Amino acid sequence: MKKLIDASEIKSRVKELALDIENFYRGKENLNVVVLLNGGMIFGADLVRHLNLPMVFDSMAVSSYVGKASMNELKFRSHIKIDVRGQHVLLIDDILDTGLTMEHVQKYMLDAGAKSVEVCCLLNKRDIEKKVSRMPRWIGFDIPNYFAIGYGLDADEKYRNLADIYILES
Ligand code: IMP
Ligand code: MG
Repeated sequence: MKKLIDASEIKSRVKELALDIENFYRGKENLNVVVLLNGGMIFGADLVRHLNLPMVFDSMAVSSYVGKASMNELKFRSHIKIDVRGQHVLLIDDILDTGLTMEHVQKYMLDAGAKSVEVCCLLNKRDIEKKVSRMPRWIGFDIPNYFAIGYGLDADEKYRNLADIYILES
C-alpha cells in the first residue's frame, strides 16, 4: 500500500471545494445534497459540515449494471426520502472512473423533475475515457489510473475507514 493523498491535503481541499460550492448555491433555494453510498460517505460527511447553506442532506445507494437489451440500468439498494421535483440536487461521490454510474444518477434525478443537478466528486481518474455528457462541476483531485482506497473508497468493502488515500498495489 502506497500513500497517494494525505489526510491533511484532503482536509484543505474539502474546505476549498466547500467554498466554491457555497458561492455557487448562495441565494438558491431548495438544495438537496445527496451522497452516494457507500463510497461517498466519508467525503460527504466532511464536505457538508463546511457548507454553510440551508439544505436537506440525504443519501442513496446505487450501482449501475447492463440490463436487458444491453441497456444500462440503475440498481437501488436504498433510496432518497424526499421528492426532488423542483429541487437543486448536488450529488456527492467518491471517484469518477468511466463516469457511467454518475451519468445514470444524474439522468434519474432530472427525469424525476430536479431543477438542476450538479456533481462533486472527490477523485477523478484522468486517463480513463469518460462516458459522460458533462464532467462534474467540482473535482477534488485528478489521479492517474490507480486503484484507490481509503477515505470511503473500498476494495471488496475493506479500507473505507482509512484517513488517508492509498494506492492498492497488487
Ligand atoms: P464508474 O461508473 O465507471 O465511474 O465507476 C465508479 C464507481 O466504481 C465508483 O463509485 C467506485 O465505487 C468504483 N471505483 C472505480 N474506481 C475505483 C477505485 O480506484 N477505487 C475504489 N472504487 C473504485
Ligand atoms: Mg462507489
